[in-house]
Amino acid sequence: MFTSNPFATLSGVISPEMMQGYIVLMVLLVMGGTILDMIHKKSAKYFFENAKKAQKSAKREVSGGEKVAMATSVLVKEVLTSGEFSNPRRRLSHLLTMWGTILFIVTTASMIFSPESTSTLLPQLWHIGALMLAVGGYWFWFAIRVDVSAEGLPWFRFERADLFILSLLATATFALAWSFTGGGLSVLFALFILSSTVLFGGVYWSKFAHMFFKPAAAFQKRVIMADGGRENLPPDYDLTDPEVQRKFPDVPMYMGKNPPNMGLCIKAERAKHY
Ligand code: HEM
Repeated sequence: MFTSNPFATLSGVISPEMMQGYIVLMVLLVMGGTILDMIHKKSAKYFFENAKKAQKSAKREVSGGEKVAMATSVLVKEVLTSGEFSNPRRRLSHLLTMWGTILFIVTTASMIFSPESTSTLLPQLWHIGALMLAVGGYWFWFAIRVDVSAEGLPWFRFERADLFILSLLATATFALAWSFTGGGLSVLFALFILSSTVLFGGVYWSKFAHMFFKPAAAFQKRVIMADGGRENLPPDYDLTDPEVQRKFPDVPMYMGKNPPNMGLCIKAERAKHY
């Protein structure tokens, strides 16, 4: 079952050209949705204006070589290994969801664009991708997302912001159920196509486009730290430094000459106030 290409069971009813046309349409919908999203939220405009403003408070110029090193580091840390998540459960769940989705999409396109292929590896990777996506996604939905893990809301409560994760989960679940029940034209196939159309057609309303915006934001964050601008935020002060104590005399007044480093307030306590 794992080694058979579920799309091959459709070839008598739906031509490979129609399936390829569907994939092209989904790519266009993602591109269109992302562009509309950028226009509507003015995110690209804000991003470039903010970058220009940040440049004004730069203390030094960041070289081209440094920028290449930063882009490589963003690719390795934030993009490929979800390094933005400091909570290991969130990171692992995101890694499973992200890599599962990529594997699932790439193998779907490969099988549909090479209908004569008899590879058993592609269907195996397709099933593994869908399973990884389902495991990471359901884990996120039932236990990790802030609504349930920190705000005590029930898992079955959802709103528009959940469109992305729910359409991802529905796509993976119906794809697996369709394949495990023998493929072909069936209700499960219709539900699989419906959910994937919502996933790729709903980019404008969902969090889908974060996968394009987050890397750009992570890169920009590195630039403002490297050029010393820090978006005009104050530096991390060493409270034991006499220079800092002269600048902020209330520090030694209330905390003594050798104040302890209390770390980030945000990490002082786990969010669980419900
Ligand atoms: C196929 C690619 C990807 C998939 C399927 C995916 C999936 C997800 C999902 C399901 C969430 C939770 C969304 C929610 O709160 O409902 C999420 C959040 C997040 N993703 Fe991704 N992601 C992908 C790519 C990326 C990339 C490339 C980055 C960063 C470079 C990234 C960074 C993040 C971050 C930082 C969050 C937390 C969002 C927040 O709370 O603001 N993701 N992702």
